Amino acid sequence: MNEFLGVAIEIAREAGAVLRDGFFRPKKISYKGEVDLVTESDRRSEELVVARLQKRFPDHGIVAEEGGGAAAGAKYCWHVDPLDGTTNFAHGYPCFAVSIGLVEDGKPLVGVVFNPIADELFTAARGEGAFLNGNRIRVSPVEKLAQSLVATGFPTHLRKKSSNMEYYWQFTLRTHGVRRDGSASLDLCSVACGRFDAYWEFGLSSWDTAAGVLLVEEAGGTVSDLAGQPYRLGGPSLISSNGRIHRELQQVAVGVAEHVAKHE
Ligand code: IPD
Ligand code: CA
Ligand code: CA
Repeated sequence: MNEFLGVAIEIAREAGAVLRDGFFRPKKISYKGEVDLVTESDRRSEELVVARLQKRFPDHGIVAEEGGGAAAGAKYCWHVDPLDGTTNFAHGYPCFAVSIGLVEDGKPLVGVVFNPIADELFTAARGEGAFLNGNRIRVSPVEKLAQSLVATGFPTHLRKKSSNMEYYWQFTLRTHGVRRDGSASLDLCSVACGRFDAYWEFGLSSWDTAAGVLLVEEAGGTVSDLAGQPYRLGGPSLISSNGRIHRELQQVAVGVAEHVAKHE
């Protein structure tokens, strides 16, 4: 196995154990913003992941959500979300993960997303396919938006400015339904393994998507920005799908964007 992937799996499992342990104990919650929560477990998990990565790969960069790590000038850079789905975690809703992605010059090379409650480990390395608990996964065969189940999310720090409610409404009218599960990395993994046919969101950060984007691509899916251009890590919009409904999805999204622009 790819050395980077092996190490990322080892660390994700260890951090997952920290999260699982914290999930079943009383939680210490504080606020980064109006509704932007952070718990002791976010910090513990991040400290562990950053310390392990620094030890194994001292010349690699690290970008981690809670501020650990340093990335200046490194060829390889790890993008780490130590707890993706903090609001779920804080409320006892068992949908969250640790997400670890390795990127070389903006291109994801390795992605690992681990949900310690469901004991689901999603893994991918560029050119080597995507896996769930060691079994190969692929995106869904659904051909039409009208037959799809899709997902989205609403970033806490932008919620007052976000026009995503318009997209949510229009996709609700055109699909079997829109889910809001509260963990971007797991949403991407759900596209990769065919539970969702598509997922879109605005304002995501590199640590939310570095691993999940590779999972979708290696499972045969498509990731772009809202305009259909290649997705850039940390870029303003992301649309991911099984590929088959991507064009339809994007056409609806562009229509909504025009509507929103007219009414601003
Ligand atoms: C959040 C989750 C959520 C998404 C937000 C993210 P966090 O990450 O992934 O599903 O809608 O945009 O910020 O704060 O729980 O790590
Ligand atoms: Ca996140
Ligand atoms: Ca997080």
